[in-house]
Amino acid sequence: MKKLVFLTGAGVSAESGVATFRDSGGLWENYDVMKVASIEGWNEDCDLVQRFYNDRRAQLANVEPNAAHRAIALLQADFDARVITQNVDDLHERAGSRDVLHLHGELTKACNEAKTDVIEIGYRAIAEGEKAADGSRLRPFIVWFGETVELMNDAAYITREADIFVIVGTSLQVYPAASLIYFTRGKTPIYAIDPNEIAFPFDRGEFIREKASRGMEILRERLKLLAD
Ligand code: APR
Repeated sequence: MKKLVFLTGAGVSAESGVATFRDSGGLWENYDVMKVASIEGWNEDCDLVQRFYNDRRAQLANVEPNAAHRAIALLQADFDARVITQNVDDLHERAGSRDVLHLHGELTKACNEAKTDVIEIGYRAIAEGEKAADGSRLRPFIVWFGETVELMNDAAYITREADIFVIVGTSLQVYPAASLIYFTRGKTPIYAIDPNEIAFPFDRGEFIREKASRGMEILRERLKLLAD
């Protein structure tokens, strides 16, 4: 089967009611990103950071995957499909996508300060002062600004292998994730689904200017022509 690789961002979860970051009303309009999503912010006020992620984790328990997540999962029947996501929610998995690669971590996991001991915590809060097994502060298993994207090489390798590459719901403003499009082989068609204009640099594919759910319906028609 052909290798179909998705790079998704916050926009794929927007129709589930999960806020994006840079749209009007987005998370970064209401929070100072450097205070709640950076290693400096963690060291300055870890309780503020815990509250930020505890709130998002609690919200995740009350939202559902949307038609776009489900459409992406269904394509596993006709393609060797992989999802690389910048999202920290578990909506791709709950829609049935297997082996999702989370470039920026996962809300449902926590870890010690050294990020060497990762545990599943589901949607529960991390309590103030809660410790990891090694005695360090238990923290969200998230890649904060200023931290290394440990899975970038794996993501680049998967992207290099892609026969078809699809971008859904990302503003392509955060690196190194956004640089993945440059790891595609020269002939690999790149599709992008987004209701807004994005810096979509390639003419070897198609920009589907729609929300994720509607865009995935259109993409599924295109892919029927490309499946083996
Ligand atoms: N369907 C599809 N795309 C949508 C929808 C929708 N219903 N609504 C908004 N979008 C698009 C926006 O037009 C935008 O291009 O989703 C994109 C969201 O962009 P961002 O808010 O920048 O989110 P993302 O690209 O995922 O951010 C990347 O930045 O703050 C960090 O770690 C955080 O993983 C995040 C990274």
